[in-house]
Amino acid sequence: MPVTSFHVVEKYTYMNGFQSYHESEAIKGALPIAANSPQKPPYGLYAEKLSGTAFTAPRHENLQTWLYRIIPAASHSKFEPYLNPDAQPTSDNLNFKLHQIPNQLRWDPFDMDESKDWVHAMKYLGGAGDPTMKTGIGILIFAAGKDMAKEAFYSADGDFLIVLQHGVLDIQTELGRLLIRPNEIAVIPRGIRYRVMLPEGPVRGYILELYQGHFQLPELGPIGSNCLANARDFQAPSAFFEEDTSEWKLFTKFDNQLFLALQKHSPFDVVAWHGLYYPYKYDLGRFSVIGSTSFDHPDPSIYTVLTGPSDHVGTAIADFVIFPPRWLVQEDTFRPPWYHRNTMSEFMGLIQGDYDAKTGGGFKPAGASLHNIMSAHGPDGNTRDKASNAVLKPVKVGEGSMAFMFESCLMVGVTDWGLEHCKKVQDDYNEQSWESLKSNFKRPVE
Ligand SMILES: [Fe+2]
Repeated sequence: MPVTSFHVVEKYTYMNGFQSYHESEAIKGALPIAANSPQKPPYGLYAEKLSGTAFTAPRHENLQTWLYRIIPAASHSKFEPYLNPDAQPTSDNLNFKLHQIPNQLRWDPFDMDESKDWVHAMKYLGGAGDPTMKTGIGILIFAAGKDMAKEAFYSADGDFLIVLQHGVLDIQTELGRLLIRPNEIAVIPRGIRYRVMLPEGPVRGYILELYQGHFQLPELGPIGSNCLANARDFQAPSAFFEEDTSEWKLFTKFDNQLFLALQKHSPFDVVAWHGLYYPYKYDLGRFSVIGSTSFDHPDPSIYTVLTGPSDHVGTAIADFVIFPPRWLVQEDTFRPPWYHRNTMSEFMGLIQGDYDAKTGGGFKPAGASLHNIMSAHGPDGNTRDKASNAVLKPVKVGEGSMAFMFESCLMVGVTDWGLEHCKKVQDDYNEQSWESLKSNFKRPVE
């Protein structure tokens, strides 16, 4: 007879701090004192190490965690390819191809799908690079309506930054539970096993998968030691375990393919842990926005929440950037984003509300746009006309809204699913936004 027993602690308790060294025990005394791997860990637990970086990574980058668990993670059957095509993160096409397109692309909102759980809900929209080389990113869309059963999932490919657009996620991880509410994000680092339940029904959102390194807070330079996302607002879960000897499924995403193994114990049996490698969440409402108080328009990098740096200082494999409600007060300034071409690619999504650089309703919550490397873009004609003639008093923009951007130094390809399967790409995006822009040029009288 399978036995399930939850240790009775508060379900969601958090420890605050970004890349702080945390330790947590669901039973007092479960953490060994001083030693990491004593001959007999407390209460007959197994000690297990989880490495988020090479052992020898520099101290300021080194991310390792020690777990004290009932059964080691290695105790499972052989992984077999999981061939349900509907379940592949790569959608219907196992040997997916990434299409490189110079056009500006925009998608209508992605459909809800109440028939799927988390593992089966992920669709690979696009990306760059290669998880086997630990270079690049993946961009996935999820729409789920069912709790995962006795199933756990982990990605060996990279860190998941989950941007929730609709619903609530109850994420049970090996290290504890995270409740992700609207306007919150979660980061689940590579390898950490988790299960997603949906306490408020169907969910939808976006995932940025970082194949290389881990997310960090951006440098603040002359801004100083505060503002943007403050370290204390990131929350890691406290240890929370269950003892369950029934059969569990264990899925892994490994080089963008799914594999499945079985095991006769819950993957969520970590009684205590300590270290620097753990999942966390962040409420986007806590982001402290800065901006110009005189004239002109700073680069959007001032809105960076988290960055996945490349090996080249100041250049990101992926930045996660948001456009929260904020005051605009600049004088003699065209206040919307300028027209530009960028050596970085820009994938944008909208969690809620209206984005201040576009009118006409083409960019909707749960939709997206992609302005790839050097694809020219900027405000549409309406926005340009309004902004050029506006009385420049202080105004608050983005009230009730939250747009975001995954910005990458890499060229982002789009999958067949992204282009065809969902039939959502707006053919008239360019025409609607920019082709109708008129010349205002007036040659000086000679
Ligand atoms: Fe842009």
